[in-house]
Amino acid sequence: MAHHLLIQFSDVHLSVGGELAPGVDPDANLARALVLLEEEGVAPDVVLCTGDLANEGEESSYRAFAAALLASPATAGATIVFVPGNHDRRGSFRTALLGEGPGEGPINQVVWHDGLRIVALDSTVPGADHGHLAPETLAFLTDALRAPAPEGTLVVLHHPPSPSPIAPMAQLRLDNPGDLERAVAGADVRTIICGHYHHAAAGSLGKIPVWMSPSTAFLGDTSVVDEFRLVPGGALTRLDVHESEVVATVVTLAIAPCP
Ligand SMILES: [Fe+2]
Repeated sequence: MAHHLLIQFSDVHLSVGGELAPGVDPDANLARALVLLEEEGVAPDVVLCTGDLANEGEESSYRAFAAALLASPATAGATIVFVPGNHDRRGSFRTALLGEGPGEGPINQVVWHDGLRIVALDSTVPGADHGHLAPETLAFLTDALRAPAPEGTLVVLHHPPSPSPIAPMAQLRLDNPGDLERAVAGADVRTIICGHYHHAAAGSLGKIPVWMSPSTAFLGDTSVVDEFRLVPGGALTRLDVHESEVVATVVTLAIAPCP
């Protein structure tokens, strides 16, 4: 089995308006993330972009995002997987990132990399912030998992099936985790990979690990659990998929080495 290196950008929240809040500049953070990867010589096989890619679902930000990934030496050669989040809009997402017509149905995809199967699911509910896997999406997942993949499967979706300790975020989780658990039970799913909470967390669904990536754009303060308190800063996830294990590592964007 090969080693697969994946980089996860989640909750990029690109904004044509610049700063979303004082000190919160998603575009600058994405640029910083790409420079960081380039400086360290990180060349991922796959880049997972797990939702909330444009803050208002605007087509111009999607095009800017795709262009930035294509222009960066770190990501230009990678297989890119775009997954929608609750801030995204299916129509503009499809036309700007997937090169499709502006359809409004769920965006579900199967992407392969050297025997590793990535099943990317649309957990969004148009007009709402919580997540739900529609019957059509669950059927897509079941069909995708019918036969095992040579190097196993990663299931990727924006909304985690696991609750955040931050109460208002937990209310916006995937609202039918049991359906997801039943769909993946007995299949070759190695890890479920999500975003949405803007903080790192590890959980499980049945016997399958769940990874929740922090956001590149801004972070949620996990020392406060009764409200979502925004913290300037950002991070991405490095995923090393080895023969018998998957390791998720948070890479912070503001690294100041000791002098
Ligand atoms: Fe987000």
